[in-house]
Amino acid sequence: MAEILLKTNNLTVDFKIKKSLFGKPGRLSAVQNANLEIKRGEIYGLVGESGCGKTTLANAILGFVPITSGSFECFGHKIDAKSSAAEWRDVRRHMQTVFQDPYSSLTSRFTVWQIISEPLYIAGERDERVLRERAAALIEKVGLSLQDLDRYVFEFSGGQRQRIAIARALITNAELIICDEPTSALDVSVHSQICNLLLDLREDFELTYLFISHNLSLIKHITDHMSVMYLGEVMESGSTADIFKNPRTPYTEALMSAILEVNPKTQRERIILTGEARSPIDPPSTCRFANRCPKATELCRISPLPSAVEIAPEHFARCHFCAEK
Ligand SMILES: Nc1ncnc2c1ncn2[C@@H]1O[C@H](COP(=O)(O)OP(=O)(O)OP(=O)(O)O)[C@@H](O)[C@H]1O
Ligand SMILES: [Mg+2]
Repeated sequence: MAEILLKTNNLTVDFKIKKSLFGKPGRLSAVQNANLEIKRGEIYGLVGESGCGKTTLANAILGFVPITSGSFECFGHKIDAKSSAAEWRDVRRHMQTVFQDPYSSLTSRFTVWQIISEPLYIAGERDERVLRERAAALIEKVGLSLQDLDRYVFEFSGGQRQRIAIARALITNAELIICDEPTSALDVSVHSQICNLLLDLREDFELTYLFISHNLSLIKHITDHMSVMYLGEVMESGSTADIFKNPRTPYTEALMSAILEVNPKTQRERIILTGEARSPIDPPSTCRFANRCPKATELCRISPLPSAVEIAPEHFARCHFCAEK
């Protein structure tokens, strides 16, 4: 059985916000009790509509936003709201990120070799010769050339900049790469090139990816396991093939029905969701999807959202009726 690289235990992130100028502060529930298990070497997809908490969940694992409660286990540590800076440092050195926008995530006043090697510099390496050599060893792996090392990022296209960002993510020998919409700011023509590059690098460097995307066809194509989030809650998790074939919560079903299949025989009937998503501010403990769910009953509106049920091996769903299908 594959080793579990990262496991979250009821990971929760709330943001304190002001509801009005003089009002009491409210709680914006961005991620609520998230439980994910990412195995070493896999690509783990995270999907859900805008604002459902995908980036916040990734940011909590990266230490960019504070954890409110719960924890995650990774690289021999259990990290929670009380973890020390030293524990965070130990965990973070195994992780790197590739963000959506290669324009703003790379500093334009540095040359390519300086940008690629910056994480090593931050980790304490000060010998310029070593930094440059390490950048040079990676640049061709991401499809650029040695001549590019002394150029500036503004001289590159979006796809090439994302290649630079990927080389930068690899320089510290990170094992877990968190990709947050890595292709969505790019021209459609380079999407597949960047995805293929990520797939090739996974083999070469034995990487594990947490891959956030709105693009369900891409998630279906490249991920091994996935989770579906709705308004801060993980509604369904499992093998990607299983979830696409047999979605067990009405939200996942609605999401999957939006994909255009090549084969008309496998095309799902489109489920159009009506109504507005609830506010994430001070949400109820009942199912957050109930007000838009075509299958909701009174039970969904009054009872707390149930814990995840394993409805098939490694396929978990949270819905009062998921076992009935
Ligand atoms: N620093 C912050 N302070 C207050 N609220 C925040 C903060 N960061 C995110 N949020 C809120 O948390 C919720 C989740 O946001 P998040 O960016 O994680 O969503 P997302 O799923 O990544 O969306 P998208 O697909 O648009 O990138 C949203 O309601 C957002 O407004
Ligand atoms: Mg996001």
